[in-house]
Amino acid sequence: MVIFLMLKGRSLVEPGDFNQEELNGLFSLAEKIEAEPAYLRESCRGKLLTTLFFEPSTRTRLSFEAAMLRLGGSCLGFAEPGSSSAAKGESLADTIRTVACYADAIVMRNPKEGAALLASRFSSVPVINAGDGGHHHPTQTLTDLLTIRRIRGGTENLTIGFCGDLKFGRTVHSLAKALARYSGIKMIFISPPELTVPDYIREMLNKEEIPCSEAERLEDIMPNLDVLYMTRVQRERFFNEQDYVRLKDFYVLTAEKMETAKKDMIVLHPLPRVNEIAAEVDSDNRAVYFKQAKYGMFVRMALLASVLDAV
Ligand code: CP
Repeated sequence: MVIFLMLKGRSLVEPGDFNQEELNGLFSLAEKIEAEPAYLRESCRGKLLTTLFFEPSTRTRLSFEAAMLRLGGSCLGFAEPGSSSAAKGESLADTIRTVACYADAIVMRNPKEGAALLASRFSSVPVINAGDGGHHHPTQTLTDLLTIRRIRGGTENLTIGFCGDLKFGRTVHSLAKALARYSGIKMIFISPPELTVPDYIREMLNKEEIPCSEAERLEDIMPNLDVLYMTRVQRERFFNEQDYVRLKDFYVLTAEKMETAKKDMIVLHPLPRVNEIAAEVDSDNRAVYFKQAKYGMFVRMALLASVLDAV
C-alpha cells in the first residue's frame, strides 16, 4: 500500500523514474488485477484521463483507454494531432498547460525526443510517456518486464537478445536501461551495422558493468538466448526510403530458426510487426507477443490506479 501511495501524482518519463521496489509493487498489483478482474473496478470513478497521440498507436493508446475504463474512469483526447490546435502552431507547453486544466492525468506520445520530459515540466497533473521519438517508451518496458516475470517466473539471470532496429527502437532503449538494474542479466544486440544501439545506451551498460555483446547474424545467437526481443525496422524514423527498403527485411524469424532455440526461450515483440516474424511462428508456445499486449493493459491499470491514488 505504501508503494502505491508513493506513486501518487508522479510522472513517468523514463524507466529510471521508478525504483525496483516501486516496479515490483506495480507488477504485483497488475497480477492481482489479472487474477481478480473485479478488483479496483470502480476505483477511478470520476477521474479523467487524456490521451494525446501525436503519432499513430494501436496498443498503447487503446490499452491505456481500456485500463481507465476498466477502472471506472473516463477518457478523452486525440489520436490525430491534425485535429488539435497543434496544427495551428500551438506549442507543446501551451497544449499541456491547457489539457492539465481538464484531466487528472495525461498520456502522451510525441515524435520528438524529450517531449515527455518537457510536458511533465509544464503539467500540473502526472504525465505518462507513451513514446518520445526514438528515446524511451517506459510503459512498454513495464509490459515487457511483467511478461518476462509472468512467463519465465522472474527477471534475473537471463540472456536477452535484442534484434532489429536498435538505433531508433525506443522500446529497446527503455528495456535495456531497466534490465540493467536486475542481477545476472546478459544482453546481446543483434542488428545491421546501420542500426546498432546508440552510444549512450552502450556507455550506460558499460558503466553498470552489464555483460554485453553485439552481433549481426541472428542464427548464430539463437541457441544462447532465454529471451528474444524482436523489433520492427521503423519506416517513420528513416530520412531515406532506399535505406529503409534495403534494411526492412534484414531479419525474419521463422519456424526453422526457432528450432535452434532453447525449449523455454520466449519471443517478445512490442508490436506492430511487419515482416520480421513469420506468421508460422505465432503457433509456437514460445511466441508470447500477444500475451504481452494483454499484460500491457493490466500493468497500465496498476499504473493509473497508483498515480491517481485509487489503490
Ligand atoms: N508497442 C506499441 O507501442 O504499440 P503501438 O504503437 O501500437 O502503441
